[in-house]
Amino acid sequence: MTREELKAAAVAMLDRAYVPYSHFPVGAALECADGTVFTGCNIENAAYSPTICAERCAVAKAVSEGHRDFVRIAIAGTGPDFCVPCGVCRQVLSEFAPNLEVICLSGDGRELATTLSALLPHGFGPGNLEHAQS
Ligand code: THU
Repeated sequence: MTREELKAAAVAMLDRAYVPYSHFPVGAALECADGTVFTGCNIENAAYSPTICAERCAVAKAVSEGHRDFVRIAIAGTGPDFCVPCGVCRQVLSEFAPNLEVICLSGDGRELATTLSALLPHGFGPGNLEHAQS
C-alpha cells in the first residue's frame, strides 16, 4: 500500500468511529512489514474510561490476527490540529514497534510525519523488565 493509500485508509475509518460523547472521530491504519494493513476507529463508552482509541483498536485487531511487526501508522482526525496519538497509544505501539513511522493527519489533509521514538523518548519497554528481581 502506498503512503497515500495508507492515509486514505485512516481517513475512511472516520466514518466508523463511535463517538457520541466527544464527537471527535479518529481513524487509524497500521501497516505491517509484510504489507498487511489493519484499520481502527475510536469506540467510546457511556462509562467513558472503557473508551478505546483508534490506534489501540488497530493494534488489537493486528495482534489478535497474529501480526506484531508494525512499520507505519497513519492517524486521521477531523480537526484543524494534527491528530497525534495519546500517551497510552504511544506506549502500546511502542511495545511492538518502538521505531514506528507515524503519520498524523489534520482534517484538512495536512500531515505531520514523525516517529514513535520522537513521540515517546526514553519509553519503558520490554527490555526494562530484563533485570527484574526474582
Ligand atoms: N482518541 C483516539 O482515538 N486516539 C488518540 O490517540 C487520541 C484520542 C479518541 C479517544 C476519544 O474517543 C476521543 O478521541 C477524544 O479524546
